Amino acid sequence: MSDNFVLDVSRIRDQVRQKMNEGPVTETYGHDVQRVIDVLNEVVATEVVCWLRYTRHAIVAAGIDRAQVAAEFTEHAKEEMNHALRAAERVNQLGGAPALDPSKLAERSHTDYTTPPDDDLDQMLRDNLEAERIVIAIYQEIVRWLGDGDPTTRRLIESILEEEEDHADDLVDLLGI
Ligand SMILES: [Fe+2]
Ligand SMILES: [Fe+2]
Repeated sequence: MSDNFVLDVSRIRDQVRQKMNEGPVTETYGHDVQRVIDVLNEVVATEVVCWLRYTRHAIVAAGIDRAQVAAEFTEHAKEEMNHALRAAERVNQLGGAPALDPSKLAERSHTDYTTPPDDDLDQMLRDNLEAERIVIAIYQEIVRWLGDGDPTTRRLIESILEEEEDHADDLVDLLGI
């Protein structure tokens, strides 16, 4: 800790008492909370669409390699749903409303829901790899944008990002590229 770090504790104590209904969001929150909520709701929509895409592909996959590919899709699907839930929980903690209206999810999602032919496992793998690479690029941007302004949301996105990179790596292995 640097020598010039001085805490005005009595000011902080006064401030936090004034807006108790804002829960964990205090005067020291370093971002535009509404913008962070909106970005998180885009993450929620993206993760739900990824869950739907992986789930469909896992169910319909056909052909000689179906068992291995479907098992990987099922595992990824479970993790995408978990990402959606964690982002929605954070929206709620920040005082926002988790946007789960199914009619709006596709337009808010950064990735597409795709339906390749059931026996085209290669296309399924490529569609999912493309989606993973999109979310990796976007989550890296979100992490940089959040910076020190909201370390809790940044750590959440960082931990999701780590799993997306793992997903992309799994898909590259299955594609053999
Ligand atoms: Fe995800
Ligand atoms: Fe993923």
